[in-house]
Amino acid sequence: MSPPSAVFRDGLLAGKVALITGGGSGIGEGIARRFAEQGAKVAVLGRTATKLVRVAEELGDAGLAVPADVREYAAVEAAVAKTVTRFGRLDILINSAAGNFLAPASQLSANGFRAVVDIDLCGTFNACRASFGALRDARGCIVSITATQAFVPMPLQAHAGAAKAGIEKLTRDLALEWAGAGVRVNSLAPGPIEDTEGMRRLAPGESADKMRKHVPLGRWGTIGEIADVALFLCSPAASFITGACFLVDGGSALTGPSRFLEMMGG
Ligand code: NAP
Ligand code: COA
Repeated sequence: MSPPSAVFRDGLLAGKVALITGGGSGIGEGIARRFAEQGAKVAVLGRTATKLVRVAEELGDAGLAVPADVREYAAVEAAVAKTVTRFGRLDILINSAAGNFLAPASQLSANGFRAVVDIDLCGTFNACRASFGALRDARGCIVSITATQAFVPMPLQAHAGAAKAGIEKLTRDLALEWAGAGVRVNSLAPGPIEDTEGMRRLAPGESADKMRKHVPLGRWGTIGEIADVALFLCSPAASFITGACFLVDGGSALTGPSRFLEMMGG
């Protein structure tokens, strides 16, 4: 797990309440821990209760596990209600829940494509929609975790790219529509991040080293670096930022799809 933030002073989110989909592992878990360190109460949402309970218990009084599948609107709505009942308000929604795998579009089943779009894009809409009333009351904010696949064409990633591009567009539409209600909506597109399920799936075995050399900054990022940018976007320092996408990718998007083309022998 990443060390405490070396960048931010303590207590930046004191009195705030966050709901983090996908908060039971990886980047979502890292954001949950960073936000709790900075004084927030944090509810973590995902399908696997054991993962959520582990994170919530480690956060003590600041943690809450709210098991739900983001594809089921009623379950997400119930998770928002549980969060507000327990902590009294909701200031921040982080959408980190996602599913991905490498698959050539020519062999991907319709259900495989739909599963990823359902989790990533529809799940993000569900969480935004279900949280809106509470976020409006708190004049809160949303950060959705997308990916460079949203912008850069990549083989084996048509499903994830379509889903994440949809979230990027949704981010700008909601930012415009909800600005009048005082709700800021932004996205954060990570490049490859060490010690995550995402990269275990996208760069298995020796392909990891091949892919590292395609990152202009010469390495993959850390979960802590993503958590710090999420913290910035949810902090008063970002109070005039809405409808923006923050690329946090070590320059990966600048090089196009090179790392995936190499994996395919291109
Ligand atoms: P991860 O640990 O697998 O995180 C995804 C989380 O989403 C899991 O905790 C999973 O828990 C949850 N989830 C999946 N389907 C769900 C559903 N239907 N309903 C509710 N929760 C669901 O992977 P990660 O690599 O940290 O990825 C986190 C986010 O960062 C994702 O949005 C990913 O696209 C993005 N990202 C990652 C990278 C990277 O390098 N890792 C790069 C760019 C973008 P359950 O299975 O228990 O539900
Ligand atoms: N390649 C091609 N198709 C795949 C696949 C793969 N590696 N993995 C799953 N699919 C297809 C399945 O075959 C199925 O389609 P079918 O009914 O036509 O056979 C469809 O996707 C749904 O699979 P299922 O296992 O029922 O979906 P699920 O809803 O239980 O799980 C996934 C969703 C597939 C995205 C699963 O990998 C998951 O839960 N991932 C969460 C963690 C994750 O991906 N982390 C990284 C985030 S970047």
